[in-house]
Amino acid sequence: MSDKKLSGKVALVTGGARGLGRGYALRLASLGADVAIIDRNLRGAEVYEFERAQLTADTVMAECEALGVRAMGLEVDLTDRAATEAAINQVAQQMGRLDILVANAGGGTVVFADEKQNGEKQGGGNNVLDDVTTGTPSNTSEEMLNRVMDINIRTCMYTCMAATPHLKAAGGGKIVTVSSTAGVDARGGYHPYGLSKAAIIHYTRSLAQELGEFNITVNAIAPGIIRTGRLGDRTERAEEVVALKRQGTIEDCCGVVEFLTTDLSAYVTGRVILIDGGMIH
Ligand SMILES: NC(=O)c1ccc[n+]([C@@H]2O[C@H](COP(=O)([O-])OP(=O)(O)OC[C@H]3O[C@@H](n4cnc5c(N)ncnc54)[C@H](O)[C@@H]3O)[C@@H](O)[C@H]2O)c1
Repeated sequence: MSDKKLSGKVALVTGGARGLGRGYALRLASLGADVAIIDRNLRGAEVYEFERAQLTADTVMAECEALGVRAMGLEVDLTDRAATEAAINQVAQQMGRLDILVANAGGGTVVFADEKQNGEKQGGGNNVLDDVTTGTPSNTSEEMLNRVMDINIRTCMYTCMAATPHLKAAGGGKIVTVSSTAGVDARGGYHPYGLSKAAIIHYTRSLAQELGEFNITVNAIAPGIIRTGRLGDRTERAEEVVALKRQGTIEDCCGVVEFLTTDLSAYVTGRVILIDGGMIH
């Protein structure tokens, strides 16, 4: 048994097949936790060259195993409540317990690359890319509204609800939900994404109140401009609006997730931590 601070723990990361979720999975594995990943597309890293270039094995699960822990992956659409519950029960059964949940799946995506039927090429590259929301507060299509609310607030709630009995059974646990600076402040536009992320903050606070007596902490992170494949390079925007004059990295977010999933945050619950480099407007 290693003396890493999360050895003996089992962590579930949703949306862990690429981007920030992949970073959280690798960080938790490096701290000794066994890791389960649930994603609607376990090969999501192949969509963007930025992520494909970072992979050091065929899948994120294999990357976690290379760090010396057990890992498993399930391909599930977390907007389906029954499927989410079944998948999380399977994780707890297969891994033996569940201690940590990072409910990260989400984003401003309206159509995923793998849902496009005509193989249409975008962005001048070879890949078919995801489409992100273009809604405004006064003009958002029904389809966009439903999709963005579904993949953010509903996936978060279904995941937390299904994980709760297992965290209670483990005698306590850590839940990290993922909001956004767009959920804290309406100035960034990007509607209805911000709305769905604001709802996650409210849900996080309520859930923390309910689960405190079971030794389960529930906190949200609210990343700002973070470089992932889906959102591309936003250096210029970051130089304009971020006090630290750079866009954030996946590692910047992993540090806060490490804090919220370890004993360092033992007396922190129901809170939101912004990871935005000090956004100034
Ligand atoms: N990158 C940023 O700048 C930024 C800023 C603020 C918040 N966030 C949030 O961080 C999280 C990760 O963002 P990212 O940039 O890494 O995005 P991403 O699209 O690269 O990763 C999201 C992952 O979630 C999965 N996913 C989405 N809907 C799902 C569903 N219904 N069921 C199962 N899996 C699903 C996707 O397949 C993907 O692998 C999201 O919740 C996003 O809103 C990101």
